[in-house]
Amino acid sequence: MEYHPKVGKFHRATAVLTPKRLTSNCNLIALALGAAYDPVFHESVSVQSRIKCSTRQDKGLVNPIKIYLRGGSWPAMGLSLSHAAILGIENRVAIVTGAGQGMGEAFAKILAKNGAMVAVADINIETAKKVYSEITERGGSAAAFKVDVSRSGEVSSLVADVVARLGRPAILVNNAGVLRPTPFREITESEWQTVMRVNVDGVFYCCKHVVPLMVETRYGKIINISSTAGKSSSTFGGLHYTASKAAVLGITRHLARELAQFNVNVNAVCPGSIDTPMVRHNSTPERLREGIAKIPWGRLGRPEEVAELVLFLASDSSSYITGASIDINGGELTV
Ligand SMILES: NC(=O)c1ccc[n+]([C@@H]2O[C@H](COP(=O)([O-])OP(=O)(O)OC[C@H]3O[C@@H](n4cnc5c(N)ncnc54)[C@H](O)[C@@H]3O)[C@@H](O)[C@H]2O)c1
Repeated sequence: MEYHPKVGKFHRATAVLTPKRLTSNCNLIALALGAAYDPVFHESVSVQSRIKCSTRQDKGLVNPIKIYLRGGSWPAMGLSLSHAAILGIENRVAIVTGAGQGMGEAFAKILAKNGAMVAVADINIETAKKVYSEITERGGSAAAFKVDVSRSGEVSSLVADVVARLGRPAILVNNAGVLRPTPFREITESEWQTVMRVNVDGVFYCCKHVVPLMVETRYGKIINISSTAGKSSSTFGGLHYTASKAAVLGITRHLARELAQFNVNVNAVCPGSIDTPMVRHNSTPERLREGIAKIPWGRLGRPEEVAELVLFLASDSSSYITGASIDINGGELTV
């Protein structure tokens, strides 16, 4: 704790950013305020926007930045600020598919909150626009796009639109998916194809159209949303859902190996039972109770909890993680 004649008692935080991460003092202020809204420290941090900063960007030097913050506790501030500074996603373009609701919405919001410019892409443009509005109302950068990921031509147009409106994507979250709760003997060929087209073809098309841009820039973070179903069998979905999510894990491993030389990380997230419209709409209260009874943590997961993991995988903090499939399921696979 120090004292400044104008600021009063303050905590001093010094962040070191490279010039490319820092375009103006405005960014700095946003960075500091962003830290203040860090969900982990939401309760304890209050910034009263007295920010002093110095940059030497014009000389191409690494910028030592001093930020003076009033309120909160020093450890919280220090950790929060350095966390925001090293995430490395500020001003990066992120495409999140299926971002109109459920987990995709949470992924889009946490990426935007941490400085990414987010393409909120969904087959339902109304929900995508709603999420986009909520992000921009809170000061984030985003744009809404309509896309059916099961159609290669639409994905190709999406990527071209994103490049034109936001810039080259550095982060791709393949989240769009569908689930059908049909028992094996009742699955029709048409329903099998619907599930595979969205959950598997969709991931392939998005990777196919985005990867060349990442290879060119020698940077990329691809996060594929698989499921515990991909490793075990689905709680709420049918066999086709289980098969599609296992395929996503195969795509993840293989692509990770091929793209490592281009500095592109490819990982899968395997959520357990998460409280989203997908689960609510494909389940009865009784089935939901049975499902929850199998979770050691004793409840459904929240989309925001999965979003924290996606944020980590999208950040520079996960630089040596690739080809992994990370469980987030309240212990569901331990029983
Ligand atoms: N909820 C869970 O318990 C759970 C668990 C493990 C994995 N997952 C996976 O997580 C992802 C998100 O699931 P959720 O629970 O948020 O689902 P959700 O149904 O709530 O949301 C899915 C979103 O994807 C969009 N979408 C569907 N088909 C699309 C298409 N062809 N093109 C573009 N967008 C499309 C929908 O409009 C919707 O906005 C899915 O891949 C799902 O399989 C969910």
